[in-house]
Amino acid sequence: MRKGLFITFEGSEGCGKSTQVELLARRLRSLGHRVRTLREPGGTPIGEEIRHTLKHSHQNHAMTAEAELLLMNASRAQLVREVIRPALDAGEIVLSDRFYDSTTAYQGYGRELDLQMIKTVIDVAVGETRPDLTLFLTVSPEISEMRRAMRQSTLPFMRDRIEEADKKFFERVIKGYEAIAASEKRRVRVLDGSGSTENVCTKIWEVVEPALPKVGRW
Ligand code: TMP
Repeated sequence: MRKGLFITFEGSEGCGKSTQVELLARRLRSLGHRVRTLREPGGTPIGEEIRHTLKHSHQNHAMTAEAELLLMNASRAQLVREVIRPALDAGEIVLSDRFYDSTTAYQGYGRELDLQMIKTVIDVAVGETRPDLTLFLTVSPEISEMRRAMRQSTLPFMRDRIEEADKKFFERVIKGYEAIAASEKRRVRVLDGSGSTENVCTKIWEVVEPALPKVGRW
C-alpha cells in the first residue's frame, strides 16, 4: 500500500539541489504536510558509512567503477527498505537529494558502464519504489565547475573522490541527464537552476503544487 508522494532532485554538482530540497520541505511542512528529506548516497546509518567510503575515505583511491556502482546501490537498497517505503506507506512526502537517475548519469554516462547492466542493478535496489516526480535542475558546465572547485578549496581535509573526476566526465554526466529527461518526459521535469534561489524555488513550486495530496480539506 502506498499513499505518499515521492519526489527526487537531480542535477550536476553545484546545481543548488540541496538548498531547494530544504526550501521545499519547509514550505510543505508549513502547509501541514508530513515531509521526509533524504540524500543519496546515504540517508541511513549504513548508507552514510557507504557514502564515506565512496566519497571521503583515504582508502578509496583504487575503487573501480563497478564497485562504485554496487556501493551506490547497496546504500539505495537499504534506504528504500529502511526509510522510503515505510514513509510512503505512512502517507509522507519524501524528498530525496538524488536517486537512481544519478546512477544512470554518473556510473552509466560518466563512467561509461553498460546501461543495461546499470538498469538491472537499479531494479534490484529499488524494485517497485520509483519517484512520482523528478526535478532536474540545470546549470551551465561553467557554473557547475566553478562551484565544484570552490567546494574542493573550502574543504581541504574532506577530499571528494567523485568530484576529482575530469571535465569530460562531468560533460558526459550532463549528457546522461539530458538523455534521461528526453526519454521520461512525464516523470522528469527540467528546470533552469541558474536563477536566484527564490526564482528557482518559485519554479519548483509551480511544478510540485499540482501533484500534492490535499491536506486538511474535506
Ligand atoms: P552530493 O551529495 O554532494 O551530491 O554527492 C554525491 C555524489 O555521488 C555526487 O558526486 C554524485 C554521486 N553519485 C553517483 O555517482 N551515483 C549515484 O547513484 C548517486 C546517488 C550519487
